Amino acid sequence: MAIHQCFRKGFGEGFGAVLARALALPRRRRFVLWAATAVVCAWLGSTPLVADDEAADGKKTPRPERTAAERDVEARRLREIYRGDRSRWPPPMIDPGVEWREIGPLPNVVHPESNPLSPAKVTLGRTLFFDARLSSSGKLACASCHEPNLGWADGRAVSQPLRPAPARNAPTIRNAAFHELLFWDGRAESLEQQVEQALTNPHEMGTSPDHVVGLVSGIPRYRALYEEAFPNEPVTFDALAKAVACFERTIVGGRSRFDEFMAGDAAALTDAELIGLDLFRREARCTNCHHGPVFSDGRFHDLGLSFYGRRREDRGRHAVTGDPKDVGRFRTPTLRDVTRTTPLTHTGMFELSGVLNMYNAGMVTLKRQDFQRDDPLFPVKSPHLRPLSLNQQDLADLAAFLGTLEEPRHRMMPPDLPTLDDQAASSGR
Ligand code: HEC
Ligand code: HEC
Repeated sequence: MAIHQCFRKGFGEGFGAVLARALALPRRRRFVLWAATAVVCAWLGSTPLVADDEAADGKKTPRPERTAAERDVEARRLREIYRGDRSRWPPPMIDPGVEWREIGPLPNVVHPESNPLSPAKVTLGRTLFFDARLSSSGKLACASCHEPNLGWADGRAVSQPLRPAPARNAPTIRNAAFHELLFWDGRAESLEQQVEQALTNPHEMGTSPDHVVGLVSGIPRYRALYEEAFPNEPVTFDALAKAVACFERTIVGGRSRFDEFMAGDAAALTDAELIGLDLFRREARCTNCHHGPVFSDGRFHDLGLSFYGRRREDRGRHAVTGDPKDVGRFRTPTLRDVTRTTPLTHTGMFELSGVLNMYNAGMVTLKRQDFQRDDPLFPVKSPHLRPLSLNQQDLADLAAFLGTLEEPRHRMMPPDLPTLDDQAASSGR
């Protein structure tokens, strides 16, 4: 599929929605703006803003689709292979030099020595996670943007508040325990650091350590929770961040149908899903980056979504390292539960089908304009991306496989938040 078609499909609608939200228009006007932008983008899409070189000159013809009988035979063959031990799986299609790990079940979470697991810390952390009073506005809790029943993300394109740029899509926090570097640009090196940054970052809670410590110290029931988690310690911001991080490490998956399949239930995957699994590892080349138990290599790649030189520019990893090679690179996200965390990518502009169409087209290659000819910062798309020749059936199978990574719905009741009204009760204890 040519890239401008992807833009018509993916960007047109996304742009409209983002713009409408950015301008915070009333609902009816938002819709008008959304529709108008979609039309303009569709038009722009037909005169490609950006185009993939390979897709433009040697458009890959999709391979022929299989008949129902052929799919049957293929599925039976794959079931025989994939039901067995992972060591018997056919080798994935990986580019030379890529250090790669097989996809598979999640390991146990390792809690760091500096912040061991304790039920009291988890309780305190969970309470803080749901408490909007931590934020500067008093209106945003961690859970506002990482909602348990929205796959621990927020269902929005990019999180509010939007200023200052760049605003990004909120990733799930499920399985965050397994990421070495946190955030799309990897700027936090531990969950403890991540929590401190989330609290103080104007994109997330925009609060101050004093405010958070003051809140907990000022409410007797909070103090009691704290005392159980950190006996005889003064209330500190660091300790509160540890409690939230400790809670985050308990939010892990591992109960998806893919996990059941890995545990030996050969019937857990349908034929389409099984064919999708094989595609994912082989012809679609996804395991070049999405590998290991969380389906992420933890590394940073440029998919061409940086909007370099445009108003929505986001340089990603470059902002952390300053290395020109890192412009436009973002950390490979987990694909576990990806069907729950739409809209996708750091831009929040795509549905799953849009992302898959774009991979099939080789993703986006930004074109240098004349004045950018010698620009050392101009982002370079990952060499692991190239046009594939997948047909509609293949794309549907891939999507079906990704659906098997969905976790059962997580219902977590928000905890009962401590208030000053509890004072009487707790002082009477
Ligand atoms: C206003 C919405 C918002 C709030 C509130 C918020 N987050 Fe986030 N969160 C985001 C966004 C957006 C990102 C991605 C930011 C980036 O990568 O630059 C993110 C990233 C994260 C990540 C990184 C996940 C990964 O895969 O690297 C974790 C973990 C996280 N937040 C936890 C928290 C916690 C804990 C709190 C409360 C202290 C919190 N968030 C509050 C929007 C929010
Ligand atoms: C070159 C490494 C690389 C390859 C190969 C790759 N991905 Fe990705 N993938 C990424 C990165 C990096 C992102 C985030 C990009 C961004 O936000 O700018 C991403 C994002 C995604 C997302 C959005 C997830 C979310 O939560 O927002 C999906 C879905 C996805 N990839 C699926 C696939 C599939 C399916 C394949 C194979 C067809 C594939 N990827 C191949 C690196 C890769």
